[in-house]
Amino acid sequence: MEKLFLFKKAQKGGFPFAKRTLVTSALPYANGPLHIGHIAGAYLPADIYTRYKRLRGEDVIHVCGTDEHGVAITIAAEKEGISPQSLVDRYYKEIKEDFEGLSIDFDFFSRTSIPLHHKNAQEFFLRLYEKGYVVKKSISQFFCPKCQRFLPDRYVVGTCPHCSHKRARGDQCENCGRWLEPTDLISPRCSICGTEPILKETYHYYFKLDQFSEKLEKWLSSKKHQWKENVLGLALSWVREGLRERAITRDLPWGVKVPLKEAEGKVLYVWFDAPIGYITATQEWANFKGDNELWKKYWMDKDTRLIHFIGKDNIVFHALVWPAMLMAHGDFILPDNIPANEFLNLMGDKISTSRGWALWVHEALDFFPADYIRFGIASILPESKDSDFDLYDFQNRIHSELADNLGNFIHRTLGFIKNYLQAKIPSPPEPTDPERELFERFKDHTQRLTRSLEDFRFREALKELLEISREGNRYFDKKRPWVTRKEDLTETKRTLATSVALLRSLVTFMEPFLPNSARRLQRQIQMESIPTWQDAMEPKYLQERELGEIEVLFAKIPDSKIEALIGRIRERTESKTPKEEKRVENISFDEFKRMDLRIGKVLEVENIEGAKKLYKLRVDLGDREITLVAGLKEFYTEDDLKGKEIVVIANLEPATIRGIKSEGMLLAAVEDGKPVLLIPEKEVPPGTKIS
Ligand code: 2FM
Ligand code: ZN
Repeated sequence: MEKLFLFKKAQKGGFPFAKRTLVTSALPYANGPLHIGHIAGAYLPADIYTRYKRLRGEDVIHVCGTDEHGVAITIAAEKEGISPQSLVDRYYKEIKEDFEGLSIDFDFFSRTSIPLHHKNAQEFFLRLYEKGYVVKKSISQFFCPKCQRFLPDRYVVGTCPHCSHKRARGDQCENCGRWLEPTDLISPRCSICGTEPILKETYHYYFKLDQFSEKLEKWLSSKKHQWKENVLGLALSWVREGLRERAITRDLPWGVKVPLKEAEGKVLYVWFDAPIGYITATQEWANFKGDNELWKKYWMDKDTRLIHFIGKDNIVFHALVWPAMLMAHGDFILPDNIPANEFLNLMGDKISTSRGWALWVHEALDFFPADYIRFGIASILPESKDSDFDLYDFQNRIHSELADNLGNFIHRTLGFIKNYLQAKIPSPPEPTDPERELFERFKDHTQRLTRSLEDFRFREALKELLEISREGNRYFDKKRPWVTRKEDLTETKRTLATSVALLRSLVTFMEPFLPNSARRLQRQIQMESIPTWQDAMEPKYLQERELGEIEVLFAKIPDSKIEALIGRIRERTESKTPKEEKRVENISFDEFKRMDLRIGKVLEVENIEGAKKLYKLRVDLGDREITLVAGLKEFYTEDDLKGKEIVVIANLEPATIRGIKSEGMLLAAVEDGKPVLLIPEKEVPPGTKIS
């Protein structure tokens, strides 16, 4: 009841209004650059949300930084023969550049290896220790006799006792998501060298997480209807399964030292210090602002909404351990929401940095403008389930939505004004019925757009934004200014002034998603500043003025670019896949028989415009003709192929490539990436079965 009342009281202009919002994004590990999966998980949604809130004039800050401790970092540094500090220095810089390249902005981007953070984490630990929430316990821990080191949880691998996944890690099973103890694993092994580890005596400090079960359950239950179901469901199920004490220290030379005399050589577990990094970053921001106390408002005042943007692998820490740490500490507010996203796959396969199957941010930026990447990711954000980033699909979206819808509306409006109205945006006209109708529909879309952003449904929000330009295009088509300009100038001006009124609002609505393009549009229509969100929700005419320099905002992407990028990723993965993994498993004779292999005769060869490698083939299979799309263009001419007999898998599930349905596949030997066609030793009738 109380919650409901507060919510109502906080309504402003139909939407909730928080006095202050602190947005955080998961601190990325400083052991590698960022890929698009990271961006889709936390950073882009956080950036969109912060930009939106800022446009509403709300008090909002977005903080983040690199997570620089933990064993993964020490091992990566060891491998390179450098110190952990040099490694994290390098990746801190790279990660920061990745964010800057994508226009993902932070009020402060901190790091956890700085002295201020060590001090914060130590004080946090001591507070919990003094309050009796931390206890010292002797334990036997896995030790690798070959590597001569205690094995941190995640460096023990084995079979998950819950789901039988074979490569579960000792801290968490990536298959079922459950949190594990290394000793829970069946057939444990050292993940560095594969040796069976032995148990050896040591001691650690444990956080009494179990004491917070009830409080956590109550708190989580109060978030019903407010949090995403995937996040709340997961967190509640873990609490209900029962929480255990968690070791929060490690035997490692790199990390935040445990601030107790008796604890020589121990450091805090990286997951204990990392979320405290959010506080450190806020303090650094406040110091930078010249008000050392300012951070307290964001962490201690009940009127602040604390929002953690994370990926789903971080849910357990943010929805259970961290809130319990905050409860134990006592001085700080609890998270208001944790809009975690699911995973993003790449071209149908799980992203794997070790296999090289990833699209790195810096790599994507070599090929496309930041706004394209933001748009491509925002339109498929894995908000309620995993989603797939397919580069052809990405290209299609850029073409059909950015270029042909939004870009087209902008460009045809401004182009028309430039060409036929002496580049002068007409003065505000008297709206007639079509304008009134357009504005009505516009208002519906903006209401839905705003609601979606408030509720962390960014995909949907982006769709609404695109609906607005679609309405604009429809209006433009209906009003036909290219006809009216010859007979009715007033009408023409009304059409164009109205279209520009929509553009004025679109600048604001685009800003969270496409910040660079929004600014370019702002310059083209010569607005001094970007209207606030509330202002943009009302369609308004601009006063008469001269246009700025106009330019195409969204050009199409040539096929060759997409193909080059896919080639690059595939080559990298190929070169990183060990030979033994490439060996194919045996199949049964029955499985072989399921393949319908036939001789086909190439009837026609058609060039696919713009595709560097692809031909469209029409192939005679005796009883029918099929279409194949094949990557032969660089190696065979059309004449080479015409009339040739080839080997075809005729019952392969059809796939659409370049909008063409390919109904099978031809077979070729591939030597150094170069296909050499398989052909029958002498001519046989088309359709002849191969067995
Ligand atoms: O999963 C990760 O990349 C972690 N470095 C996230 C830490 S989030 C927070 F707690 F700092
Ligand atoms: Zn080992």
